[in-house]
Formats: sequence, C-alpha cells, structure tokens
Amino acid sequence: MTALRVGIAGLGTVGAAVAKIIVENGAALASRCGRALQLTAVSARDRAKDRGVSLGAAEWFADPVKLAQSAPIDVFVELMGGEGDPAKAAVEAAIARGVPVITANKALLAHHGVALAKAAEAKGLALNYEAAVAGGIPIVKALREGLGANRVERVYGILNGTCNYILTTMESSGRSFADVLAEAQRLGYAEADPTFDIGGMDTAHKLCLLAAVAFGNAPALDEIHVEGIERVSPMDIMFAREFGFRIKLLGLASRVNGGIEQRVHPAMVPLGTPLADVDGVFNAVVADCNLAGKSVYEGRGAGAGPTASAVMSDVLDVARGVRLPTFGAPAVHIGRPKVASMGAHVGACYLRFTVIDRPGVIAVLSRCLADQSISIESMLQRSRSPGEAVPVVMITHEASELSMVKALSAVVATGVVTEQPCMIRMERF
Ligand code: NAP
Ligand code: HSE
Repeated sequence: MTALRVGIAGLGTVGAAVAKIIVENGAALASRCGRALQLTAVSARDRAKDRGVSLGAAEWFADPVKLAQSAPIDVFVELMGGEGDPAKAAVEAAIARGVPVITANKALLAHHGVALAKAAEAKGLALNYEAAVAGGIPIVKALREGLGANRVERVYGILNGTCNYILTTMESSGRSFADVLAEAQRLGYAEADPTFDIGGMDTAHKLCLLAAVAFGNAPALDEIHVEGIERVSPMDIMFAREFGFRIKLLGLASRVNGGIEQRVHPAMVPLGTPLADVDGVFNAVVADCNLAGKSVYEGRGAGAGPTASAVMSDVLDVARGVRLPTFGAPAVHIGRPKVASMGAHVGACYLRFTVIDRPGVIAVLSRCLADQSISIESMLQRSRSPGEAVPVVMITHEASELSMVKALSAVVATGVVTEQPCMIRMERF
C-alpha cells in the first residue's frame, strides 16, 4: 500500500513533536497501521526557526490554507490553535477538498465543531481530535467507542494541565502563582494566551466536547458556567487541607432533572478520592455510566510527548481507514442539549470571609446565611490582634447556588468584610 502523506500546519510544541515522530518513525509505524507515514508538507510562521527535526523532504507553505488546499497530502493535521482563521479556514479547505482532518484545537471545535463535523461527514471524511481533550489520555476514544453502548450519567475531571500544575506546585513548594505559571509556559503546557487556562475557558472547551460525546448532543460552550483559578489563594489551599480536601479546577457535566448541567470552577475534592491525588500536569477524567459503572482515566494532560501521542493515534486511524462520526452520533442528528440553570445547582460550599475581628461579626455572617436557610457544618477562625482583619472559614451544608449567591451579597452589603468573600464549591464523589 502507498504511504499516507501527512501535511502539518503548526510546528510549535505539538506540531514539531508530531513531525519528529513521522520523520523518525514513519516507516516503522507501518507495522502498526499497514501503511508507512510520510511528512510531505508543513506550515508555520517562521521558516528559519529550528524545530528540532529535519523537515528537508517536506514542502514548506507560508500559508496554511494553501497547504490544506493544494499540498500533496492524504491527511491534514491542524496544530496552530485558535478558534478562528487561519485554523478554521485551513480545516474547511481540507474538508472541501476531500482530505480528512486531525486537530488538537479544542477552541475551534468548541465553537465550530458541529458545522465542521457536518461538512466532514457529508464527504465521508474523518474529523478527529483525540489530542484536544486531556492530552495523552485517550478519553474521546474511551467515550465514543469503548463506552459507546452506555448511558453516561456524569463525566467530570481535571482537564487543564497548566492549572493542575499551578495548584499542586503552589501547594508543594510554596512558590507564587505567577512564578509557577511562567514555568508551565516554559514547559509547553499553557495555551498561546494562558488566560484561557487560568480563566477556565480551556477546560470549558474540553468539557463541551466531552459532554457532546457522552450525552449525544452538540457542544454547548455558551451554556457552561465558567470560573478560573485566579482567586484561589495559598490560604485557601492550606485551609482545604485542614478540612480534608484539595482544591482542583474541575469540569463537570451531569444529567440532572432540569437537563444537562455543565460547570467549570475550582472545587474542594475530598482527600482519598481519585481526583485528589492527581498532581502536576496530570489530568483525570471520571465517567459514571449505567453499564460499565464508574471508570477513571489518568495521564499527562499537556506537553509535547503526550499530546503528540494522541495526535498520532488519530493519524493511525486514518491510515487504517477507520472513521467514526466526530461526536459519536452523526452530526446531522445532534441538537443543542436542554441545559439546567446554574442557579438551581445544589451543593455544599467552602466560604472564606475576611473580617475585622470585633464582637458580633460572626453573628452577622451567620444571620446572612440563616436568612437564606443555609446551615453551617463547621467553622474556623484564625485569631490575630483584635481590630485586625482575619479569615473566617465556614463549610456549609448543601444549599442552592441561588441562595448562596444571595447570602454572599447580603454579607458584602453589611460592610463586615474587607474584601470579596471567597466561595469554593465542594464536590462529594
Ligand atoms: P504553539 O507552540 O504556540 O505552536 C503553534 C504553531 O502554529 C507554531 O508553530 C506557529 O508558528 C504556528 N502558527 C501560528 N499561527 C500561524 C499562522 N497564521 N500561519 C502558520 N502557522 C501558524 O502551540 P501548541 O502548544 O503546539 O498547540 C497547538 C494546538 O494544540 C493548539 O490548538 C493547542 O490548544 C493544542 N494543544 C496543545 C497542547 C500542549 O500541551 N501544548 C495540548 C493539547 C492540545 P511559529 O512556530 O513559526 O510561530
Ligand atoms: N493548555 C492546555 C493545558 C494544553 O494546560 O491543559 C492541553 O490541552
């Protein structure tokens, strides 16, 4: 059989690693997929940059859309990133030309996944994205194929390596947020714009793709409640430990009475449960299903090797002639999910108030919570000199999100706090 000719647009952390695998192991991989792999075209912005791999035989395209339109390729691999052009235009051009597409670009698929999947499926082409969710963990394949016969009740996990690296390194080393973020960038974990990581949007991109495959609906990015880790302080990380929890940025999608609930936010995860022990750049995904029960998947969520591993699994599928609908169900049959409102979410919370230590302050806080029927499970106050600002930490019993938001607004209105209260939802798995 002839070699599978691969074109890659984007030769950064992921693209250069994929190019290296194909150039150095393309012939050997024929024993896995029945065809040798050959790198025939590449594109990036800076032709002079050293990519750490010899690209000699591959044709260089300054314009990635031109590569997609006219290069001698059997598969187009988009590794530039970004929800818009040139990534979108290049993927559309490859599909229009009848070339299957592989991408690691969750932003692109979260925004335009259904339209692109419809276009690809109408032409009988693969549009694969294993690397877009949870790096090296083959979670798209697990949900779409291995668990394909299940009714998934809930899928959730740690989906951003940069945030998990920051949270766990801050905890273990005491280093600052900014310092650890800079290190995550140097290691190739962060997005080109790292506010996507720390603001929770990268997790939301991934969650809507996971939820689409899990629940058989179109990705609904605009319906996800999104909070990032910017306001998680070393003090919260320390208090979490005292109460028997660790703070993780989670993406959670579940079937609830009102429809599908999708949320991304920092959460208190109980020590001793699988997600609590996931450290560094590792991700983990849990799927709760009717037939298989609960299954847990853990692995490196970002970085050159793990992400290239996932991209290459899609390349091997194309070489083997394996093609599945992008989101499991054919794209023409999937519609937007019925979305449950975040206000209706019910759960316990960790609350941290910064108050001036004076008589009656705790009574004011308790009153505001009691007015919304929120009951306190435990409380802790660190003392300093009277008159100084001190943290008061409370763990509540379950209450609705709406009540919690009203109670916190009431606290702020009383004037007893010196800064915005910190609220971190508690998850019990
Ligand atoms: P990156 O290191 O920033 O690389 C981006 C590449 O795209 C660079 O080679 C850049 O060229 C090229 N590029 C950007 N704009 C271009 C344009 N207009 N024309 C031609 N080439 C252009 O990004 P990355 O970390 O490899 O990520 C690539 C994709 O994989 C993104 O969608 C990202 O979300 C996804 N992803 C990344 C990881 C990870 O761990 N890094 C994990 C999973 C998924 P120059 O090199 O010449 O500047
Ligand atoms: N920036 C992403 C992360 C890359 O840190 O998880 C993997 O998608």
